Amino acid sequence: MNKIDLEGRVVAITGGARGIGYAVAQRALNSGASVALWDVDAERLARSQRELGELGKVSAVTVDLTQEAAVAQAVEQTVAGHGAIDVLINCAGITGGNGATWELDPDVWRRVIDVNLIGPYLTCRAVVPQMLKQGYGRIVNIASVAGKEGNPNASHYSASKAGLIGLTKSLGKELATRNILVNAVAPAAAKTEIFDSMSQQHIDYMLSKIPMNRFLLPEEAASLILWLSSEDCAFSTGSVFDLSGGRATY
Ligand SMILES: NC(=O)c1ccc[n+]([C@@H]2O[C@H](COP(=O)([O-])OP(=O)(O)OC[C@H]3O[C@@H](n4cnc5c(N)ncnc54)[C@H](O)[C@@H]3O)[C@@H](O)[C@H]2O)c1
Repeated sequence: MNKIDLEGRVVAITGGARGIGYAVAQRALNSGASVALWDVDAERLARSQRELGELGKVSAVTVDLTQEAAVAQAVEQTVAGHGAIDVLINCAGITGGNGATWELDPDVWRRVIDVNLIGPYLTCRAVVPQMLKQGYGRIVNIASVAGKEGNPNASHYSASKAGLIGLTKSLGKELATRNILVNAVAPAAAKTEIFDSMSQQHIDYMLSKIPMNRFLLPEEAASLILWLSSEDCAFSTGSVFDLSGGRATY
């Protein structure tokens, strides 16, 4: 495994209590960073903080990322505890289940947009001023191949991730001369607990679209996400990086 240099960096990870976010936290700690986990699941967060704490400094904030005031408080708490936020990984997300567009409940549709798109907007909005003060930052948004292609029976999810790609491109350009780089990754399916909220038919559909004929591993996602979070990533911003086992064609 290559060594990613994050020595002394502070990495805030939304959705860090489990799944891809947890794998990112693990690799970040093994790369010399300290980590702040922001997640709505207090119980899982406490367990993950305990486990990951064996690898380095880990703080945890219980926060619903759709709540503006709570996000501001998470930033404040993290800066007070770690002295900075060098890297923001927007990993929290939900699927909202599967169904044809006209059959999905409007409240569920709105909640998916709220968590997957408004949440990252709020965290970026709250963290960027801190990064501007520091004169350094890296932001990585976890989008999805669904945002590029549009998965059937997941219009809410696909639309939220397409929106997140748009946010990444705009913010990347706004900050391009400020040493704050903003990129997104577009994973295909990784077998995490997020699968519990999808139909088997949908999971089979996603696998059938991956030329490598297997699911992405969270550790494989962490490798690219953390390279994009490092100083080695120096001339890429407002960009979307494929993690789709060959599925994405653009
Ligand atoms: N696993 C996949 O197949 C896959 C594929 C493409 C993209 N993604 C994206 O990767 C990211 C991580 O996915 P995962 O598979 O690790 O999912 P996961 O369900 O295992 O983890 C998501 C985490 O986000 C947290 N979360 C959800 N809503 C929140 C909120 N309002 N505020 C704070 N935290 C909240 C959850 O508590 C959970 O810990 C998501 O954005 C997902 O859309 C996943």
